[in-house]
Amino acid sequence: PLLLIVFTSLFFYLSAPPSFAAATDTILPGQALAVNDKLVSENGRYALGFFETSNTKSSQSTSSWYLGIWFNTVPIFASAWVANREKPIKNTASLQLTVSSDGNLVIQNRSTKSIFWSTQANVRINGTIAMLLSNGNLILRNSSNSSHILWQSFDHPTDTLLPGAKLGLDKLTGMNRRLVSWKNRINPASGAYCDGLDPSASYNLTFVDNEREKYVVESLTDENIVFRHVIDASGQAKGYVWYEGLQDWILAYSQPKAQCDVYAGCGPFTICNDDALPNCICMDGFTITSPLDWELEDRTAGCSRKTPLHCITNKNTTYSTDRFASLPCVRLPKNGVSK
Ligand SMILES: *[C@@H]1O[C@H](CO)[C@@H](O)[C@H](O)[C@H]1NC(C)=O
Ligand SMILES: *[C@@H]1O[C@H](CO)[C@@H](O)[C@H](O)[C@H]1NC(C)=O
Ligand SMILES: *[C@@H]1O[C@H](CO)[C@@H](O)[C@H](O)[C@H]1NC(C)=O
Ligand SMILES: *[C@@H]1O[C@H](CO)[C@@H](O)[C@H](O)[C@H]1NC(C)=O
Ligand SMILES: *[C@@H]1O[C@H](CO)[C@@H](O)[C@H](O)[C@H]1NC(C)=O
Ligand SMILES: *[C@@H]1O[C@H](CO)[C@@H](O)[C@H](O)[C@H]1NC(C)=O
Repeated sequence: PLLLIVFTSLFFYLSAPPSFAAATDTILPGQALAVNDKLVSENGRYALGFFETSNTKSSQSTSSWYLGIWFNTVPIFASAWVANREKPIKNTASLQLTVSSDGNLVIQNRSTKSIFWSTQANVRINGTIAMLLSNGNLILRNSSNSSHILWQSFDHPTDTLLPGAKLGLDKLTGMNRRLVSWKNRINPASGAYCDGLDPSASYNLTFVDNEREKYVVESLTDENIVFRHVIDASGQAKGYVWYEGLQDWILAYSQPKAQCDVYAGCGPFTICNDDALPNCICMDGFTITSPLDWELEDRTAGCSRKTPLHCITNKNTTYSTDRFASLPCVRLPKNGVSK
């Protein structure tokens, strides 16, 4: 579905971001970023480095490491981009980010030289550098020509759209920049929901549609605002603003507005209630299919029968114990599917 966001004004006052020690924004050929290092954009707003997610609730607590971009000025971690979302790295021994001899930016095992992730750009030169720009875009460029960009993270978004990044189509290459939600609160792997430009859409007033491209781009009137647009694991697209006074991310809007209007958000055999938390509960006689995913806000697996239907386990239906139960004060979802 097409999501069109127009920023007129945001009703928040934000103080200037705190200042920090100088750090580099560039990886030159032969240089590497170690696990505990980070690149910081020139304006200090964004950082690139390795971050860890772990599930402390599961019995054997396992950590996963990802290369990502986050908001460097903000104490509550919020990811803006993840390189290896489908390929978590399980330990950090000899892990580094470097510009490899083929010119690509790679996550590599320094001792074995094995590669976990690569920009896989069509590089025919030896002499590229990686740079984290002040708008949060990580670029791989020709070291002697700053406008010759070979790869950029803005073309490979994860679940977040930063101001200035395009959401939409490159008609020449067929590339479609779209956001895909995290699988759950701690797993950046591709989840159930996508937020992009409907290629068949023909709106033309507020977004760019030229011979080469078709996209929406968000812009902020005040560059001091720390803003992110994210497609959430629970299926809502949300805009957040960092509010310095409250030291928290404040929701500026959500689409759809109500969690229960998200398609299949609670999964099969559930009841969704916008006035209750959690929003999803199982119908009587059903139990949560995947409690771990459910806990982490991925409820798409829904609920399952506690007892199989008699008419399925026993062909003798004459004496079936199966019954219908009434369920008052609910409506079926719009565009629902039957299971
Ligand atoms: C890198 O290779 C070394 C040697 O095989 C191994 O001990 C280490 O675990 C590897 N690191 C990662 C991140 O896989
Ligand atoms: C690229 O350049 C570096 C140093 O400038 C050199 O060590 C490396 O072998 C070169 N790689 C290729 C593929 O030419
Ligand atoms: C990289 O930029 C330099 C300087 O502009 C240029 O000479 C060189 O051809 C460029 N490399 C490629 C592959 O375009
Ligand atoms: C630098 O790269 C841009 C974009 O690829 C190109 O248009 C321009 O001609 C290049 N400049 C030089 C000096 O090679
Ligand atoms: C929008 O598109 C329609 C048809 O595709 C065209 O008639 C109209 O002139 C366009 N409007 C603008 C502002 O480009
Ligand atoms: C169905 O089950 C009932 C009760 O167990 C039994 O009396 C009846 O004979 C069964 N009918 C068939 C067709 O098996």
